[in-house]
Amino acid sequence: MTKIRYGGDYNPEQWPAEVWDDDHRLFDLAGIDTLTVGVFTWALTQPNEDTYDFTTLDRIVERAAAEGRAICLATGTGAHPAWLARAHPEVTRVDFEGRRHRFGQRHNSCPSSPVFRRLSAEMARRLASRFAGHPAVVAWHVGNEYGGACYCDRCTAAFRVWLRERYTTLEQLNAAWYTTFWSHTFTSWDEIEAPSMLTEHWRDAEHTAFQAITIDYRRFMSDAMLANFRDEKAAIRESDPDTPVTTNFMGAYQPIDYHRWAADLDFVSWDNYPPDDEHPEWMAFTHALMRGIGGGRPFWLMEQTPSTTACRDVNPLKRPGVMRLWSWQAVAHGADAVLFFQMRAGRGASEKYHGAVIGHAGRADTRVFREVAQLGAELDRVGDAVLGTRVPARVAILFDWDSWWALEASDGPSRLVRYQNIVRAHHRAVWSAGAGADVVPVTTDLSAYDVVIAPALFMLKGDLAARLEEVARRGGTVLTTFLSGRVDENDQAFLADVPGPLGELTGVRVDEWDARPAGVVNPVDFGDLRCEGSLVFEIVIPRGARTVATYGADFYAGTPAVTRNTYGQGEAWYVATALDQAGVDRVVGQILDRHGLRGPYAGVPGLEATDRGPVTFLLHHGSEPVEVSAPADATELITGVRITRGDPIRLAPGDVALLSRPT
Ligand code: GLA
Ligand code: ZN
Repeated sequence: MTKIRYGGDYNPEQWPAEVWDDDHRLFDLAGIDTLTVGVFTWALTQPNEDTYDFTTLDRIVERAAAEGRAICLATGTGAHPAWLARAHPEVTRVDFEGRRHRFGQRHNSCPSSPVFRRLSAEMARRLASRFAGHPAVVAWHVGNEYGGACYCDRCTAAFRVWLRERYTTLEQLNAAWYTTFWSHTFTSWDEIEAPSMLTEHWRDAEHTAFQAITIDYRRFMSDAMLANFRDEKAAIRESDPDTPVTTNFMGAYQPIDYHRWAADLDFVSWDNYPPDDEHPEWMAFTHALMRGIGGGRPFWLMEQTPSTTACRDVNPLKRPGVMRLWSWQAVAHGADAVLFFQMRAGRGASEKYHGAVIGHAGRADTRVFREVAQLGAELDRVGDAVLGTRVPARVAILFDWDSWWALEASDGPSRLVRYQNIVRAHHRAVWSAGAGADVVPVTTDLSAYDVVIAPALFMLKGDLAARLEEVARRGGTVLTTFLSGRVDENDQAFLADVPGPLGELTGVRVDEWDARPAGVVNPVDFGDLRCEGSLVFEIVIPRGARTVATYGADFYAGTPAVTRNTYGQGEAWYVATALDQAGVDRVVGQILDRHGLRGPYAGVPGLEATDRGPVTFLLHHGSEPVEVSAPADATELITGVRITRGDPIRLAPGDVALLSRPT
């Protein structure tokens, strides 16, 4: 492939073959080159336990191939057939309340069901042996949007096996789970239950008597579904040794720790359905998170709607130009494919009003189709300019599912602290300052970064504290916040001053913390800037750190809310409360300035500027036109216009410019 792939989910098994001619005619008009096929075809390809029938799938694949289109071939196991659920009730899940589900919906198979595991792998095996080496098949799409959880007896039994592997002995498990509390000491592995509403939980998945059990069950569920993915990938590999295998992730999806999956995917792909009223920063963050799972390699945007979703109570339409802008944004952040859900709208069931490239009337003269076709032509023109290239970043933001789970399941100090909000506020500050950020797992090698931001890093594992110290020692800057360095990997408090192993680096000690209801703020005074803190107020005792900002009220008025500690050649900052965005911007901005990382267009309202490979992408998310001057001699890749350094570049709302530096 010599260009960014363009296309998406295509389900022609839902409509008569006469329509397929029309589909392909329209795909040609829109520059569609890649189709994801077979995502929900299990009932079609295996009509009963003893019969496999690939007639229709063959036709779909052959037709697409004859039209010169590439295929991302799905294994179709995201929804099991009705006959399977009837013949083997074990394939359906037991929910958090303990109810065994019957056949219905999708993404609903028990990951520990031997029948599901055997038959899903067998489907992948048969598909691979049929299509391995097919020149049109460029990727395998296993399952679909793995997620949810099961609490059945088989999962509970598998959990016990997983626990034996993790802890070896019951003594070690009891110690890790702190089971002396509330008389929970386990004397046999069989006494261990899945943490649910019938056992350790009340109210919901975040209210648990034993955080360590709940966190381990989440780790186990991530691994159980990963095992399903591995089953199918291994079956594919029996006959297809090379074609890359992926599954579509969902961004910052809480139930599954995608970092545990990273090594198993040949490339990362994800489905971008932003809450429409949110900032474009939301997507920039998620692209960076997904890119980080792949170690910085390009990913695929596996799904986005060309126009509207159908799954929300209210489904706003993407305004003219927005689909194009967000597609280029994905490319700017590392996507090598821009794919839609869905290529053509189905007639019935719950997604009939979901946006599609081709609507029910099959027209090419709709606004949405025209915009899709325009982008198709642009992607052709831009060709391979950024294909396969990386997105440089000097800033790392640590993201950790364990910390997310532990913090939000914690009793105290506050249920109002949402991990993502804290992390994203820091990303937003980096993003609006025009500096690139990678969002990476805590195990990432940090030696390439000038700045490492570790917001709300509640759980501190392994040698991370030492590696953060090393960042500062060699001259970098580390920023961490309240509710960091609180617990070890078993969710047990460190027997040390808060922030535990981060104390040396940050040069602070915290003995007390105050949590206040939503809406209660405490002024935070930087001297030249007053902003507000909220939710949690840690009371900081400096042990070498200098005070940058102080609380303005309550009995801790005048004590530090933000500190800065010299460590080696560098620094470590500690932020003791949930600062408002102005406060986070201030702290992050000062750190970026220390390293000269503020982008040239920081402060231009709505303008996102980001580099990938030899190209600087200008993406204008704002509602007013802007004019900036060209950062260097360049060619604008969509128009082909040559630009000299310093030339004015005007961007209307929604405009993009791809400035390619001469090589
Ligand atoms: C998900 C699924 C698709 C479809 C879309 C609709 O991303 O993977 O099958 O349901 O949502 O938005
Ligand atoms: Zn189960």
